[in-house]
Amino acid sequence: MTDTDTRPTPTIQQQAPVLLSQIAGYVGHRTIAMGLRTGLVAALADAPDGLTPDALADDVGVDAFYGSVWCRAAFAAGVCDRIDGRYRLAPHMATMLLDTTSAAYVGGVFTVMEQPEMFDRFERVLPSGERMWWDDTSHDWIAGVSGTGTPFYTRLVPGGIDAVPGLSDRLVAGGCIVDTACGAGTGVLRLAEHYPQCTIIGVDGDGYSIDKARARVEGALGDRVAFVHSPLEEFSLDGPAALVINNISMHECRDIDAVTANVAAALEPGGWFVISDFPFPDTDDGLRTVPGRIMCGIQYFEAQIDDQLLPRAYYDDLLARHGFVDIASTVLTPLHALTWGRTAH
Ligand SMILES: C[S@@+](CC[C@H](N)C(=O)[O-])C[C@H]1O[C@@H](n2cnc3c(N)ncnc32)[C@H](O)[C@@H]1O
Repeated sequence: MTDTDTRPTPTIQQQAPVLLSQIAGYVGHRTIAMGLRTGLVAALADAPDGLTPDALADDVGVDAFYGSVWCRAAFAAGVCDRIDGRYRLAPHMATMLLDTTSAAYVGGVFTVMEQPEMFDRFERVLPSGERMWWDDTSHDWIAGVSGTGTPFYTRLVPGGIDAVPGLSDRLVAGGCIVDTACGAGTGVLRLAEHYPQCTIIGVDGDGYSIDKARARVEGALGDRVAFVHSPLEEFSLDGPAALVINNISMHECRDIDAVTANVAAALEPGGWFVISDFPFPDTDDGLRTVPGRIMCGIQYFEAQIDDQLLPRAYYDDLLARHGFVDIASTVLTPLHALTWGRTAH
């Protein structure tokens, strides 16, 4: 409600569900994350006809009574169906929770949300506001974030790129693609796989992520792929790129205008910059949607590295101020939007 809201004040009975649904969501979240970490979800995915709680517990090697408590909570959360005392995953849950190659994969978000970098550290440093950067986070955190970034790359390469007029045709002709803030290299691998005629450069400011990325492509892709350890505020290329992408990282730049100017300078005439990011709601109603609430959760981590997710339209202004033309955007999911522009051609 706002000061100018003329609606009657709701009763306690009307307001209680606002709180109780949060508790229910927390229970469901913990149930799913626990099921993913312990292998309970994976064991159910391997049993399409379902399992009794005893058989599931036996399979995974957990206590039978505790296993039955988990099964009932997973049923209550809608993750499992229950037929004749046997539990099986509800439709599409195996894909969304376990299939890291699916565009609908969301399983990694559950475990990332429970890592200390998300809420625990935020609460600990709430009085001081002490910031950190990627090299202060754990290796588990970097692996977890890479897992949550994977479906963003899956949607971007090649489907999102195909939605940008003229871009796939340009890439068929070969050229250089740069993944700025490439993290642990998932995007570089995807780009190399889908555009075999192109060379791919991954740039990231975090040394551990670059080492991970190098180790993943070593030997597999030869000299078609290169990595650069550099802040994006300082990067430059020897030759011009046909495409620069940035996946779920543009909002993190310490100096977003310096980075955008570097991208513009790195592109060939008519080259594309595609920003793939969370579209943070810019309205009160948007904040209260499920995607808006999830993005408010992500903001706890972003705050600790001294940034915040940005409304999608922010990128239109950013690209326009750096002389990009043909600026356009598309929404891939409620949590994922693309914004692109071309250098003058
Ligand atoms: C959320 S992760 C995403 C990584 C990758 N794009 C993905 O989707 O898996 C953000 C990455 O951006 C990098 N990063 C953030 N700001 C940066 C900057 N100003 N210069 C270079 N790298 C940066 C971090 O090191 C981190 O690897």
